[in-house]
Amino acid sequence: MSFDHTIADISLHEAGRHQIRLAEHEMPGLMALREEYGEAQPLKGARIAGSLHMTVQTAVLIETLTALGAEVRWASCNIFSTQDEAAAAVVVGPNGTPEDPQGVPVFAWKNETLAEYWWTASQIFAWPGVDQDPAQGANMILDDGGDATMLVHKGAEFEAAGAVPQPQPEDPEEYGYVLETLRKSLGENPQRWTGIAENLRGVTEETTTGVTRLYQLARDGQLLFPAINVNDSVTKSKFDNKYGIRHSLPDGIMRATDVLLGGKVVVVCGYGDVGKGAAEALRGQGARVIVTEIDPINALQAAMDGYQVATLDEAVEQGDIFITTTGGKDIISASAMTQMKNKAIVGNVGHFDNEIDMAGLAQLPGVKKVEIKPQVHEWVFDETTGRSIIVLSEGRLLNLGNATGHPSFVMSSSFANQVIAQIELFEKSALVHQGEDPYENEVYVLPKVLDEKVARLHLDAVGAKLTELTKEQADYLGVDVAGPYKPEHYRY
Ligand code: NAI
Repeated sequence: MSFDHTIADISLHEAGRHQIRLAEHEMPGLMALREEYGEAQPLKGARIAGSLHMTVQTAVLIETLTALGAEVRWASCNIFSTQDEAAAAVVVGPNGTPEDPQGVPVFAWKNETLAEYWWTASQIFAWPGVDQDPAQGANMILDDGGDATMLVHKGAEFEAAGAVPQPQPEDPEEYGYVLETLRKSLGENPQRWTGIAENLRGVTEETTTGVTRLYQLARDGQLLFPAINVNDSVTKSKFDNKYGIRHSLPDGIMRATDVLLGGKVVVVCGYGDVGKGAAEALRGQGARVIVTEIDPINALQAAMDGYQVATLDEAVEQGDIFITTTGGKDIISASAMTQMKNKAIVGNVGHFDNEIDMAGLAQLPGVKKVEIKPQVHEWVFDETTGRSIIVLSEGRLLNLGNATGHPSFVMSSSFANQVIAQIELFEKSALVHQGEDPYENEVYVLPKVLDEKVARLHLDAVGAKLTELTKEQADYLGVDVAGPYKPEHYRY
């Protein structure tokens, strides 16, 4: 079988396959879905354009989607997050060889440039024959952070306008690469993205930041296809964002710097799901954690959990380590970085790199960037005194840039939601084409009973025994014995 793909090194496939095999053991949710749906092939006919960190865990997701009948093209959603051995194994496939790959077209490698990144994003939509007939192209997106969805929306918008605009001074630098990618595609086919958008049945979105972008599009009446917000399944955000970060944040800091976390003062910006996991992990290592928040509810939660809550201004001279987790922008300014202790460590685990003002840091007079090792840079403010700070992964997701992201078990829970959401949208949105209309161009969450199903799939593996409601107890609570057990407004 021959197909296009662009990865770092296909000879790494064996190392990747070993890791995938071990990960499968730790991903009971995905393996149970293969068992349950393998025969029925509910994703037969689905052509999924995937944009999500190309890690070992994602490899198990991809191979679950194909086991359920889907065809897939894949890119990473971050320039540093690919595990090259996982990418190689996915391309080769469980039964292929490097000479005769049988897997999936992947366009991802660790350490992409931004221009390369946006090229890979365009490749997941470059299905053979799509320019002649959009129905040959992707009919589903599986997104993390919303870049793939944004590319289709911007492409269709500029095609309708007949031109791609010039970047404006207020646009982030990266947007220039998006515009460049789309300008090129407009030259090749002025209706490419319009056709792709019309053929898409929907998107399932993985993370808080991507979900925020989807709700903005839906609010403005601009969403071009239905979306399922996977992030807000309880078994996603209350597990992956929290317990995943609790594992992969300290892992990233330690692999990058090897500093002892015990005794350090760590400033965690944001106390949402990710911030809670971050603060807990760092306290667990013996660090003294200071939280910054803008939301009084989260600030009070942090205080009740025993953390000092302060502003960054107050904490900037005390911190040894600063971690942003907000999904917002301009959290740590260049001037704040100049006030930090000598050799303070600065990193981000929010989705985009605009939480830390890296552009402002680079423009400080006399500042010098020294590479300690890939994804670990010392920014020297004063060569005479040697005063400097250490920035991880250039301000991008450090748990994926400096380590390998969340562990398999928690990603099994997230990705089981993804698979269920893909089946739901693919099957139900198909009805739209038959004149029924179960999903509008809005953002939906999965029904609670499916959320409970994902949790159920993981209980055995952790030795948890569930108590069953009696019929009388269920009637008393006003629920069904089989669930769902909580009302929609319940906050776990
Ligand atoms: P969330 O909305 O639960 O939490 C963010 C918190 O930051 C909120 O409580 C908000 O009030 C606070 N915040 C906003 N602006 C702030 C500011 N200027 N200063 C201090 N606090 C501020 O979101 P969640 O789920 O915790 O996700 C946060 C980010 O992490 C998102 O970008 C998400 O996409 C990303 N994420 C990253 C993961 C990773 O593996 N690195 C995993 C999951 C999510």
